[in-house]
Amino acid sequence: MRVTVEQLRDMKRQGRRFAMLTAYEYSIARLLDDAGVPVLLVGDSLGSVVLGYDTTLPVTVEDIIRHTQAVVRGSRNALVVSDMPFMSFQESIEQALHNAGRMLKEGGCQAVKLEGGAPMAETTRRLVEVGIPVMGHIGLTPQSVHQLGGHKVQGKTLAVATRLLSDAQALEEAGVFSIVLEGVPAALAQRITAAVSVPTIGIGAGPRCDAQVQVIHDLLGLFSDFQPKHAKRYATLGPVIQDAVRRYADDVVAGVFPTDKESFSMDERVLHELDEGRQGDRLPFDPAVALAGTTEPDFSGYAPRS
Ligand code: KIV
Repeated sequence: MRVTVEQLRDMKRQGRRFAMLTAYEYSIARLLDDAGVPVLLVGDSLGSVVLGYDTTLPVTVEDIIRHTQAVVRGSRNALVVSDMPFMSFQESIEQALHNAGRMLKEGGCQAVKLEGGAPMAETTRRLVEVGIPVMGHIGLTPQSVHQLGGHKVQGKTLAVATRLLSDAQALEEAGVFSIVLEGVPAALAQRITAAVSVPTIGIGAGPRCDAQVQVIHDLLGLFSDFQPKHAKRYATLGPVIQDAVRRYADDVVAGVFPTDKESFSMDERVLHELDEGRQGDRLPFDPAVALAGTTEPDFSGYAPRS
């Protein structure tokens, strides 16, 4: 039985914090689910950490559906929440219903997340009315990166802080089951958390939110392009992976992998018949001819990025 949105609301009432993590694929989803992470977010951050885009803007509904399917297959207990990509819900309520519906029906997630405050309240209300649980997302909303002038902390001025507070209340009133607070000062996040009855889930929003979310690649040290200030590395898997890959490549070059242990055998009689039967067609193998023009393999591609 998966975690439900009602259980998350109860956790806030009971003063119990929880952790959410992003997941984009089957194997990692299995590990996170087995580790007891109660909420997995198929974030549009996959655009950066999986697909290598500069922003999240190019991510499509199809991308999210494909990765959601993998995460749902890899998890049994966690609530799976999927991000509505840029321009998959902003055009109209009908568009939002259509795409959120696809994400639940085809992707198999149990809830969607969408960026935006009060201007998204009507859309949120309608989604909730038809039975689609919605997680809100305010503060530094990466889909508005060009409007915000970069990935900047939001809410340091009185005007923006006031707006974020009323955004959170508008979303709560519209029926969200939780709200991500991204890139807002800790003191403001604390006040928003106190002002709403649904769990706030912080990322770069200080310790006083009801829950926290991190991008799994940041946590595991898998994303080397940059290290966000709000992230804490709990493992540094990049060099571990590179070391394993180098040793594998060296073994292949040295001819010590694979060995018989990693190979498959076949019936000697079949082999004999094969050799006998093909005797007539067999062309002589001349290594000098086969290797003519080749040079020493170049493994410089394994060098760490400078
Ligand atoms: O896309 C994402 O991973 C997110 C989290 C950072 C909240 O929206």
